[in-house]
Amino acid sequence: MRTSSEKTPVAVTADDGGGGDHHPSHAFEGDAAHAFFARSRGLVDERLHQIVPAEEVTPVTVHGAMRWSLFAGGKRFRPALLLAVGTAFGAPDEDLLATACAFEMVHTYSLIHDDLPAMDDDDLRRGRPTCHIKFGEATAILAGDALQALAFQTIVGDERLAADLRIALTLELARAAGTPAGMVAGQAYDLAAESRDGVTIDELDLIHRHKTGAMIVAAARCGAIIAGAGDRELGCVTRYARELGLLFQITDDLLDVTATAADLGKTPGKDARARKATYPSLYGLEAARERAGAVYAEACAALDQLERPIQLLRAIAGFILERRA
Ligand code: IPE
Ligand code: IPE
Ligand code: MG
Ligand code: MG
Ligand code: MG
Repeated sequence: MRTSSEKTPVAVTADDGGGGDHHPSHAFEGDAAHAFFARSRGLVDERLHQIVPAEEVTPVTVHGAMRWSLFAGGKRFRPALLLAVGTAFGAPDEDLLATACAFEMVHTYSLIHDDLPAMDDDDLRRGRPTCHIKFGEATAILAGDALQALAFQTIVGDERLAADLRIALTLELARAAGTPAGMVAGQAYDLAAESRDGVTIDELDLIHRHKTGAMIVAAARCGAIIAGAGDRELGCVTRYARELGLLFQITDDLLDVTATAADLGKTPGKDARARKATYPSLYGLEAARERAGAVYAEACAALDQLERPIQLLRAIAGFILERRA
């Protein structure tokens, strides 16, 4: 995983997550999150290699481009979250993996398109030249399109799961990826906000809850749905992941200001150069960090409503709060 994995961001404690103390230095075990991410990354990458056509298969440009972006060192956060939630609710890895890979494919497609000249015009992603720099714009567009289609094919074709479950998962992913409730809507709001001043905090929350939050919420929900969670539990998972999604984008904005290209694998400072409304630009760095802490606490509060083993889910929230990449 492209992170500061050599660092354990907070103290390790024996706290089991039942209490109301939401400061991460007491509330999560950084090593547990790192170990879980490493394990889930291995499982997801192995399955993705099986799912995505080999580079030798024609059209070789499209398959090469899909693989270039997919196997470039992303954090695999969305599939890891799906696996963590599903595991907390008792599902076996095998039932979770295909859907987890589908989320990573849609996410990777969104990054390929996000980097295009017509959008953020970035030339570095996951530590490599972006897909369009390497393969040209037309092939990058097609690689993104194909990853999205393959994601849905992967869920619908997952014969381990009952047909009604596959329909439910397809709906979750489609809503989260598209519009009006999903990532595409968020990307549109984000681009619209770039060309005007005076974006408010509420507007920024709305952008982020769509462009980043929706996919993170749906990944968590799909883990719980596969495991057969009830409505009340699904509600708690949704509340947890809504805060986690917002937290993820607040830290993305903070890292754009504070991190290096080597840490991030993408170009820092882009948001300021584009005069983008971000948490640091609206709040200032310190207040943005405070907001991140408050959102983390909300995520933990939602977890406290669950009578399930939530330590890992809390560790994941702490990991996102403290992340350096
Ligand atoms: C980057 O996502 C884009 C955002 C939604 C903020 P990630 O930070 O998950 O990127 P990868 O998958 O690790 O490359
Ligand atoms: C993109 O947000 C979120 C997506 C849906 C891809 P950003 O534009 O902030 O993501 P980075 O910073 O380029 O990864
Ligand atoms: Mg963008
Ligand atoms: Mg971008
Ligand atoms: Mg960003």
